[in-house]
Amino acid sequence: MKMISVVGARPQFVKLAPIALAAQTAGVEHVIVHTGQHYDPMLSDVFFEDLGIPAPDVHLGVGSGSHGVQTGSMLSSLDAVFEEHRPNWVLVYGDTNSTIAAALSAVKMHIPVAHLEAGLRSFNRRMPEEHNRVLTDHAADLCLAPTQVAMEHLAHEGLAERSLLVGDVMTDVLLRVRDELSDQPSVLLDELGLAAGGFYLATIHRAENTDDPARLAQIVQGLSVLDKPVVLLAHPRIVAKAAEHGITMSAGSLISRPPLAYPDLIAAVLASSGVVTDSGGLQKEAFLLRVPCTTVRSETEWVETVELGWNVLANSSAEIAAAVTRERPSDTDAAPYGDGHAAARVVQVLIDRAE
Ligand code: UD1
Repeated sequence: MKMISVVGARPQFVKLAPIALAAQTAGVEHVIVHTGQHYDPMLSDVFFEDLGIPAPDVHLGVGSGSHGVQTGSMLSSLDAVFEEHRPNWVLVYGDTNSTIAAALSAVKMHIPVAHLEAGLRSFNRRMPEEHNRVLTDHAADLCLAPTQVAMEHLAHEGLAERSLLVGDVMTDVLLRVRDELSDQPSVLLDELGLAAGGFYLATIHRAENTDDPARLAQIVQGLSVLDKPVVLLAHPRIVAKAAEHGITMSAGSLISRPPLAYPDLIAAVLASSGVVTDSGGLQKEAFLLRVPCTTVRSETEWVETVELGWNVLANSSAEIAAAVTRERPSDTDAAPYGDGHAAARVVQVLIDRAE
């Protein structure tokens, strides 16, 4: 069996790690295509190095651009790659522009497409990720859902017959990296003179939060007045937007620094007293590590984290402050994101269903 994984953005490299390992273990021929959507070493190369992912076989080098320019540039390059390799499956990940481009190119070439992390919905049609995930699910031949809720969304849209619950591959990689850390302290403690449990960890990068200057200023202000230091791991998008609009990201409690490599991020979450984020992955990682999370959005795809009390949605300064200082949620052994063996299941399904 031969499969092609198409990835391009940071969270996709994390999901690729357990899939690449499972493919190797199963003796599958696995071609890795990097679109080049993310190109900064801290958003790309470090993930390949730290997570032991083989270097990409093909790098399209598309870089940044408007949605149409970026997606179109990927589309125009992918046809030739798929034609050359003619795989049994193209595997696409998550909800980025790299996902929709690869799904569209493959489906038009009659190459079976499997969508990993299918069925997630925010029901917010202003989000670029929502367009990408809905269109990819409907183009795909196989929708690989991480949760029961995702399966229900797929069924509701008439996609039940081509959907399968496999669990969440991010659980696989997170549990492995957490175990490998074996109590190694976070690099943030020494670097910033912080005590374990004495700070909040924040990431903000979504277009809805960064592109409108008033909204960005409101979030930055909300973080800067919290009761403990807030370490903001600043994605290039928020750095660029803050600079453009003259918003300073180091006032009051707020300390801004570049993003962390994956193992360092997990160590930092574990050392923090809470996470404040708009990232999908980090909401789940915080839950799996049982660190309280505050999500700066009006809705989340990962509703289980909210229902179990480990995640609270907050938008205004007052809501963010109330959420981060709330009482620690009650312990739970619920495992809505699978058992840490999703990737092996995904690869086996692709082998079984290869034409
Ligand atoms: C993309 C995904 C988002 C995902 C996020 C993870 C889409 C529509 N969005 O958002 O779902 O959560 O990745 O990080 O696909 N930039 C750099 N260096 C880089 C990459 C980007 O400086 O290596 C800057 C550029 O100014 C670029 C901006 O960040 O214009 C946005 O990058 P882009 O890839 O368009 O989207 P993300 O915000 O990263």
